[in-house]
Amino acid sequence: MQLQGKVAIITGGGSGFGEVTARLFAHEGASVMLADINGNAAHSVANSIVAEGGQAGWAQCDVTSPASAEAMVQAAHSQFGHVDILFNNAGIEGFGTVVTTEENLWDRIFAVHVRGAYLCSKYALPFMIASGNGGSIINVSSVAGLVGIRNMTAYSAAKGAIISLTRSMAVDFAPHGIRVNCVAPGTTMTPMGHRLVEGDTQEQLAMRMSRYPLNRFGRPEEIANSVLFLAADSSSYVTGSCLVVDGGLTAV
Ligand SMILES: NC(=O)c1ccc[n+]([C@@H]2O[C@H](COP(=O)([O-])OP(=O)(O)OC[C@H]3O[C@@H](n4cnc5c(N)ncnc54)[C@H](O)[C@@H]3O)[C@@H](O)[C@H]2O)c1
Repeated sequence: MQLQGKVAIITGGGSGFGEVTARLFAHEGASVMLADINGNAAHSVANSIVAEGGQAGWAQCDVTSPASAEAMVQAAHSQFGHVDILFNNAGIEGFGTVVTTEENLWDRIFAVHVRGAYLCSKYALPFMIASGNGGSIINVSSVAGLVGIRNMTAYSAAKGAIISLTRSMAVDFAPHGIRVNCVAPGTTMTPMGHRLVEGDTQEQLAMRMSRYPLNRFGRPEEIANSVLFLAADSSSYVTGSCLVVDGGLTAV
């Protein structure tokens, strides 16, 4: 029970990393608030966690909207009494070079990943500070924020920004005992991961996987375990870091 008595907000909690991490956090004793633009998905994951004996709430929330992000954080605080952990995980993929990326797509990718992490943190931090008990914020970068990934310019730039945002927040809020870290996963088999490789032939898929020294894509549970480490007291001296969980891709 590494998160006994903690309250965790998980954005993008209706699918993929968000869903798997919510289930793991609940299993470790946390009360979880699932926030997702897809309210039905968040609702259904929350119901299933409660049915299994966990504590969960949900909110339909667009992390790019200040009003929506603020209302969601308030709802978590009202329902559970405090906010200890924020997993800024909501995200969308998008493709194109600087020449072919439409302005709207560029802006939306930056809004969901960067503005979303900024807004949810902006509204959660005052509760963490006021509690006097510290806290842990985990942002989601990607290998795309560390190395050049072909035809994913806006996504890569946004994921690079997440690493800088993480470091800056870590420095600002360390005096309050609030730690801020990020994870940088490689391709992982969530719904988004499946969309990233759909259309690949078996040969292209094998080639893509062979770029990973472990010769496979990640499993959502492997990312969730890393997020749990950063959320829990076992990482009490870790802040401002980027934990790369990529089967060795960026080590080559
Ligand atoms: N799957 C991968 O291979 C991979 C690798 C590296 C990083 N990531 C990152 O991990 C995070 C989670 O990805 P995933 O693979 O679980 O994707 P996913 O598509 O399975 O889930 C993303 C969730 O975010 C929600 N969402 C999208 N826009 C939102 C918004 N504006 N407000 C609130 N919720 C919103 C979606 O509804 C969805 O439930 C993303 O930030 C993604 O960029 C994924």
